[in-house]
Amino acid sequence: MQRETAEPAVQQLPGPTATEWVDLHHQSAATSTYVYDFVWDITEDAEGPFCTDADGNVLLDFTSHVAAAPLGYNNPKIMDDLREFDLVDPLKIAGQDFYVSTGGTPDDAELPSQSHLMDKLTEITAKYDMDTVFLSNSGAEAVENAMKICYDNCEQPKYGLTFEGAFHGRTLGALSLNRSKSVHRRGFPELSGIHDVPHSMAGVERLREKLDPKHGHIPPEQVAFLILEPVQGEGGYRVPDAEFMSAVDDLCDEHDIPLIADEIQSGVGRTGKMWASDHYDFEPDVITSAKALRVGATISRSELFPDEKARISSTWGAGDILSSIQGSLTLAAIDEHDLLDHADRQGKGLLDRLAPLQDEYQALEDVRGLGLMAAIEFETPDQREAVMEAALERGLLTLGCGRKTLRLLPPLDVRDRELDIAVDLLDEAIASVSRAATV
Ligand SMILES: Cc1ncc(COP(=O)(O)O)c(C=O)c1O
Repeated sequence: MQRETAEPAVQQLPGPTATEWVDLHHQSAATSTYVYDFVWDITEDAEGPFCTDADGNVLLDFTSHVAAAPLGYNNPKIMDDLREFDLVDPLKIAGQDFYVSTGGTPDDAELPSQSHLMDKLTEITAKYDMDTVFLSNSGAEAVENAMKICYDNCEQPKYGLTFEGAFHGRTLGALSLNRSKSVHRRGFPELSGIHDVPHSMAGVERLREKLDPKHGHIPPEQVAFLILEPVQGEGGYRVPDAEFMSAVDDLCDEHDIPLIADEIQSGVGRTGKMWASDHYDFEPDVITSAKALRVGATISRSELFPDEKARISSTWGAGDILSSIQGSLTLAAIDEHDLLDHADRQGKGLLDRLAPLQDEYQALEDVRGLGLMAAIEFETPDQREAVMEAALERGLLTLGCGRKTLRLLPPLDVRDRELDIAVDLLDEAIASVSRAATV
């Protein structure tokens, strides 16, 4: 397969081999998300956003594994360096209990270590005065540890603040912050004192009233944190305006409330800047990252982290050696290939290509996005589902979010030709669904 000439080509989806793999999987797997029966065959050709499934269908993947494969498939920047790495055992080390070297001295090591990754993360958060990192394995763990350091820093921690539409993970602590879909929280015990407000200027006003020292019912000094996704992900790719973000920032400043920016989906270049926070007049005290970084990370200023040993820790913190190398190589590729500017440019190009669809089809309520987090909102959830299905039949992988939104997250190095193919396929998919609806 050549990325320059690859084209989506679908015979049957799911084909017979994919069906066998899916059946095997479900013999012992707990039910989980599984958006479609697409089965990626890791032994077959894949390059950039193109991959091959278990039956030889070629797909154009505009999901980037829900932002966790930011450079697409088999990016040479990652693969060439990884080929130099001879697998070792143990590949996973108890990341908070032992140190690791990748050979030589830190200055001349051929491959980046977990320590280099943390160093780089402080470099790309230096504008927020962040100098300390705690590595974990997943987004939810990054959020758990962000909350823990904030609770730890608050003298009487009683409250936490979140927004309607939020999604921050599925562990018991993190799920208390979720306000996107009831399935995440329903019936589970939750952290006490978590308050939510609408994700809008009206919400910030309501928060201001709640925190008012005279008339409010939440003493600001008892608020351990306010958490928000600078661009809401699972909740429906909601891109806030500058006024909202700066009002949130001002309110937190005024009341000295630590601000956690959950950049797990929006960070590491996805929006055309390293962090979506960078687009705004907005200064987080803690950033959580994962997905594109391949490991979880809680990043902040040293004074927010506990001094006491073992207060925060994890056996497999930092994922494994390979994952943290991948994280470092991803950040290096972003620098080397100007992928922030590229994602910004291509993101605008994607929205320009999508905009005419909104004029053409009544079913489209909105087209929006920031960088390469792009979304189409439909009038109904059924329309969204039908278009995703029709796009898949044509070889384009997309994802849903919110109630009736379709999201597109191509790799950060997506090319014009790939944007053209994807939008043509989407156009066909929407046309077929619209035709079927009027028959
Ligand atoms: C904004 C945000 N926070 C947290 C998480 C949880 O990350 P993980 O699934 O790695 O636990 C996600 C995952 O989708 C996310 O999008």
